[in-house]
Amino acid sequence: MQQRKKLVAGNWKMNGGLAANAALLDGVLAGLGAPACGVAACVPAPYLAQVQARVAGSALALGAQDVSAFASGAYTGEVSAGMLVDFGVAYAIVGHSERRQYHGETDATVAAKALAALDKGITPIVCVGETLAEREADQTVAVVSRQLAAVLTKLGDKAAAIVVAYEPVWAIGTGRTASPEQAQAVHAALRAQLAEAGEAAAMQPILYGGSMNAANAAQLLAQADIDGGLIGGASLKAADFLAIVAAAG
Ligand code: PGA
Repeated sequence: MQQRKKLVAGNWKMNGGLAANAALLDGVLAGLGAPACGVAACVPAPYLAQVQARVAGSALALGAQDVSAFASGAYTGEVSAGMLVDFGVAYAIVGHSERRQYHGETDATVAAKALAALDKGITPIVCVGETLAEREADQTVAVVSRQLAAVLTKLGDKAAAIVVAYEPVWAIGTGRTASPEQAQAVHAALRAQLAEAGEAAAMQPILYGGSMNAANAAQLLAQADIDGGLIGGASLKAADFLAIVAAAG
């Protein structure tokens, strides 16, 4: 049987600087070798050139944390998928809860961004996740299904080329992780939804994100439908990030 691809992607968020990035990349690349799974770092846009140069020839792929829904024009502050391609970007996070929360991104915006990325050959990492209030109101599956459906509908056949990341909002940066069982239940629902978009879509990785770290990664990654991680805080420490990559392999 065909194996699903695995991916561990670091999300540096708005952290780092030239010197800190160089030190972090030195540490990650020293221990990365030829990992059994895909590995990426999603870095702040100003550092794409720095990271592109440093990861050349390594197994570490370059990712962006956002992408514009538009190709070019009067969109001050935006970065287009075409610009990301110029720097060898392979992945772009879209719909991270911090962008939905602080930048008012809607399901429709997120879907348009996913399409803009795919049209340039960049794999969108589509983030979905419920707030604590939504979980407590038993709305978890309804919320993530709605978020994913918006993207699947917009992408049609191209949906078979996305990566999905389940990131419960209440677990992001809080040190509070979904239990393996809680995460698996949502991943199974997302897998079923991807399967409706076709067999190829169902084979795409579904990552867990939200306080995944070196200590809890193995248990989460042992779940049947968890194919990797989107790692925030722990991706800023080379040893921790490498331990998660090893646990995914
Ligand atoms: P965290 O962030 O690992 O720091 O919780 C994950 C994310 O927001 O992608």
